[in-house]
Amino acid sequence: MVPSLMARVLSGIQPSGDVHLGNYVGAIRHWVTDQDSIDSFICIVDLHAISVPQDPAHLRAQTVELAALLLAAGIDPDRSTLFVQSHVHEHAELAWVLNCFTTFGELRRMTQFKEKAQAQAEGSVLVGLFDYPVLQAADILLYQADRVPVGEDQRQHVELTRDIAQRFNHRFGETFVVPEVAIPKVGARIMDLQNPAAKMSKSAESPQGTIGVLDSPEDVSRKVKAAVTDSGRDVVSSPDKPAITNLLTIYSVVTGRNVSDIEGSYEGRGYADLKSDLAEAIILFLSPLQEQYRDISSDPGRLRDSLELGAQKAQKVAGETLHAVYERVGFVPRRR
Ligand code: TYM
Repeated sequence: MVPSLMARVLSGIQPSGDVHLGNYVGAIRHWVTDQDSIDSFICIVDLHAISVPQDPAHLRAQTVELAALLLAAGIDPDRSTLFVQSHVHEHAELAWVLNCFTTFGELRRMTQFKEKAQAQAEGSVLVGLFDYPVLQAADILLYQADRVPVGEDQRQHVELTRDIAQRFNHRFGETFVVPEVAIPKVGARIMDLQNPAAKMSKSAESPQGTIGVLDSPEDVSRKVKAAVTDSGRDVVSSPDKPAITNLLTIYSVVTGRNVSDIEGSYEGRGYADLKSDLAEAIILFLSPLQEQYRDISSDPGRLRDSLELGAQKAQKVAGETLHAVYERVGFVPRRR
């Protein structure tokens, strides 16, 4: 096992579709705060992205755009290891080994697979989509991560990762750190503004319900003002007011104020006031990120340097883990 002095986290994000507030609130902002005290690995998971059809030029552009966005959000390539998954071949290799320690039944139970495959006839579902969680387990286990900071929708995948790690360790002796899932108390599931029963998502049926972190102020304003609300007019967070609760959660994250404080300032005022202030708060919040993003994108050389540095740092750790795994399962090492 690779020893690590600081606790280590690994997380990932797909370069498919535009990054939205849900990604930011549920995951990215925690990666930024974590990097002060924790050894952080952040992976742009392009291998995962091709589990659904992608246009190659678009995928390439989105991968670079996502890297720029993560740097703009505050990921510091000197403190965190930011890298592209396909740059570190160990991910695909460990995934193959882990395939041999994961059952069909386990993968068939994955909610995300069931949701994504639902619309298709079984015969046309890609094996990559089915196998997606095993690759995710490889991402995590390669780095001996103690924690995996993700939104609520990824909980089941991390639990499967734990099961696979424990199974492997039981069979071959301690090889992998068994990671804990780290789900934030607030904002682990930001909902679609048009449909508070569905999570905000890159592939949402209603783009109107998804706020992209690079959306223009006009788009943000339009989407927030068009957000569905609940019956009544009290601005309170409660289970019977899922739409307002969602708006308050976003409000709280983008302003740093707590929800009860925000509720207090809207006593006797209606939803319209809340929406117009929220739109402004989001615009204000996104503006420095968007400015940074433009800055970083204007220097593609520096961006590629950061990713290269990240791939080198990542591969060092990944290579050691894969080496140990190959040895445990009985592969003959190459002569060096
Ligand atoms: P992805 O790209 O869908 O999302 C990236 C992160 O954003 C979180 N998230 C949300 N959080 C709150 N509210 C939402 N509406 C919302 N939508 C997305 C996700 O939980 C995630 O943390 N399978 C992963 C990528 C992955 C990964 C990994 C994650 C691959 N390997 C290893 C952790 C560790 C995914 O598709 O995330």
